[in-house]
Amino acid sequence: MAHRPADSLLAQLADDLADAVVRRYRLDRSETLAAIRAEFSRRPALLDAAEKAIGLDDIKRMRVYRDAAQTVKKDLYYRLRQYRRKPSVADQELPDLTQLTAGSAASERLETIQRAAREHVSTSERLPHLPEFFEQLLSMVGVPETIVDVGCGVLPILAPLDGTGLATREYWALDKDREAMTAVRAYARLRADGRVRPLEWSLSEGWARAHDAGLPRRCDVGLLLKVVPVVARRSSALLTVLAATPADRLVISGSTLAMAKHQNIERRETRVLRSFIAAYGLLELDSFRTPDEIVFLVERAT
Ligand SMILES: C[S@@+](CC[C@H](N)C(=O)[O-])C[C@H]1O[C@@H](n2cnc3c(N)ncnc32)[C@H](O)[C@@H]1O
Repeated sequence: MAHRPADSLLAQLADDLADAVVRRYRLDRSETLAAIRAEFSRRPALLDAAEKAIGLDDIKRMRVYRDAAQTVKKDLYYRLRQYRRKPSVADQELPDLTQLTAGSAASERLETIQRAAREHVSTSERLPHLPEFFEQLLSMVGVPETIVDVGCGVLPILAPLDGTGLATREYWALDKDREAMTAVRAYARLRADGRVRPLEWSLSEGWARAHDAGLPRRCDVGLLLKVVPVVARRSSALLTVLAATPADRLVISGSTLAMAKHQNIERRETRVLRSFIAAYGLLELDSFRTPDEIVFLVERAT
C-alpha cells in the first residue's frame, strides 16, 4: 500500500505502465504489474526521483524511469518469446509430472497434466478448445495407428489416447526441447502402456537417428503443428528434413495469433505454410481452422 506521495506516484506509474504493456502484449495484467513493481523496487534512484518529481508526466520523462520501463518491457517480451512459461505461484504447490506415480490420484494427475500443458505456450493456447481441436483433427485424418508428432511440445500429454484416439498404437513424440520432453517422458512412464514414445531429437540430427531409436520407417500420419513457420524463421535449411517426415500424410499448421503481441498473423502464417506445401510438392487434401490455428492436411504428390 502506498503511503508517501512518492510511493503513490510510483504505484500510479506502475499501473500506467502495466496498462500500456498489456494493451500491446499478450500478458496477464497482474503478473505484468508484479514484474514492474519488482523492477521499480530494485531501483532506489527511481524512488529518489519520485520524491523530487512534480507529477506523473514529469517522472515519465526522466531517464531513470525510461530505463526501468525499458528493462522490464524487454524482460517481459523475452519471457513471452519462450515456448515454456514459468508455473504461476498457485501452480507451484502441485507436483510436476515427474513426481507423479502410478498411485497418484486421478484428480492430481489431471491437474498436473493440465499445468504442464499450460506452461507450453502453443499447447496452452489450445486448452480452451482442446476437445474440438482433436475432434476436427481426427475427423479429418481418421484415427491413425501410428503417429509421428514432430516438434510436439507437450501436446502428446493431452492427446485423447483413451478416448477417440484409442486405436492409436504408437504416438511418437519428437522435440528438441529438453523440458517438454521430460514432461512427455514422465507422462509416457505414467501411462505405462508403451503407446506414447518420447524422443528428444532435433531436426538437425536427421531421420536416421530417429529410426535408430525405433521410429517406424513410415507412420500413418505426421503432425507438424505450429512448427513449419518456426523452423522457416529460425533455421530454414531444416525445412527439407521436416518435409521428409516419414509419414503417408502430414498435418501442418500455423498460428493465427502472434505469440507475444496482440496481432493477427493468419495471412503471414498461411503464406509460409502454402509456400512449404508448394516447395515440397505436397498436395492439399483438406483443412480446418480453430480460434488460434489454421490446419492443412497434405500428402506427397506421386
Ligand atoms: C510452436 S511450438 C509447437 C509445439 C506443438 N507442436 C504444438 O502445436 O503445441 C514449436 C516446437 O517446435 C520445436 N522445435 C523447433 N525447432 C526444432 C528442431 N530443429 N527440432 C525439433 N524440434 C524443434 C520447439 O522446441 C517447440 O516445442
